[in-house]
Amino acid sequence: MVKVGLIFGGKSSEHEISISSARAVFKNFPGDYEPIPIFITREGKWRLVKSMDDLSGEDVSFLPWEGKSVLKGVDIYFPLLHGPYGEDGTIQGLLELAGVPYVGSGVIGSALGMDKVYMKMAFQREGLPVVPYIVLRKWDNINLAMIRERFNLPVFVKPSNLGSSVGISKVKSWEQLEVAIEEAFKHDYKILIEQGVSAREIECSVLGNENPEASLPGEVIPYREFYDYKDKYVEGKTEFRIPAKLPEGIENMIREYAVRAFQSIEAWGFARVDFFLVGEEVYVNEINTIPGFTEISMFPKLWEVTGINFTELIKKLIELGFERWRKWKKAG
Ligand SMILES: Nc1ncnc2c1ncn2[C@@H]1O[C@H](COP(=O)(O)OP(=O)(O)O)[C@@H](O)[C@H]1O
Ligand SMILES: [Mg+2]
Repeated sequence: MVKVGLIFGGKSSEHEISISSARAVFKNFPGDYEPIPIFITREGKWRLVKSMDDLSGEDVSFLPWEGKSVLKGVDIYFPLLHGPYGEDGTIQGLLELAGVPYVGSGVIGSALGMDKVYMKMAFQREGLPVVPYIVLRKWDNINLAMIRERFNLPVFVKPSNLGSSVGISKVKSWEQLEVAIEEAFKHDYKILIEQGVSAREIECSVLGNENPEASLPGEVIPYREFYDYKDKYVEGKTEFRIPAKLPEGIENMIREYAVRAFQSIEAWGFARVDFFLVGEEVYVNEINTIPGFTEISMFPKLWEVTGINFTELIKKLIELGFERWRKWKKAG
């Protein structure tokens, strides 16, 4: 029996979402694999828990210098953590240090996928279209007049390093700009001002290592002003069209772009790539290297309509993790 350390929870604001993802994955685990649930509390403590319904258990550590270790007896790790300290390369770095195989992107892909600025740079280097944007750092002299001149309303102001729409504002009149900038700076020292577009939001799942494949695309129809945190996780009124109704040319372009976006950041295993479709123009918005993984999440739903069910998907991801380890990593 292959033992898979399922790491979930975590310190980010997406703690609860990670628990939901882990519950779904745990429940649908493939037969010949045994999931070992490893919970990270909001404070960052690691715990080998009794079950997904009882998150109490024995405190453990992954760091050899902290005494106890969970390393023994786990064949591969599966970080199902969203946001900072999970999806951003930090835990992947820890797993690299420990010299163990794991599911999903490595340090570089995870780090690029979490940082909206460097992510866009990778996309642009690959020749993928992104909406116009500028980057501001907390210590910059911020020239509001320049921003007003360069962009049309609305603009989106976003922290570079968060997920789940935290700290993001849609600025519809220039008087709101300064407050939006302040708000974004509460979450990161680096923020983006982005041209707002009136777009259909299309998402596409990618699976694989050196020859990744894209699923059929799906569409998200936000209920609120934009696809914000409440809409995503609290109110749940967002509509999904799976698969999306798209002209064939656009659908193929999105699938091709999704694979290229995946490769441009050097992702491994899986990711979800999100697009804006403005008329016939396709823009890559972002990539998520550990996408939501509940039974109703876009990532598995899109694979389902493309022909891979939830359990098979988990199995494939574990196999891809092992494969990458065997082929592209020298065992340390
Ligand atoms: N430039 C933009 N134009 C129009 N809508 C946007 C733009 N940027 C973000 N949004 C809206 O805000 C949501 C969250 O932004 P996104 O960049 O995807 O951040 P997150 O990483 O938090 O999901 C998007 O799904 C979309 O609804
Ligand atoms: Mg998003």
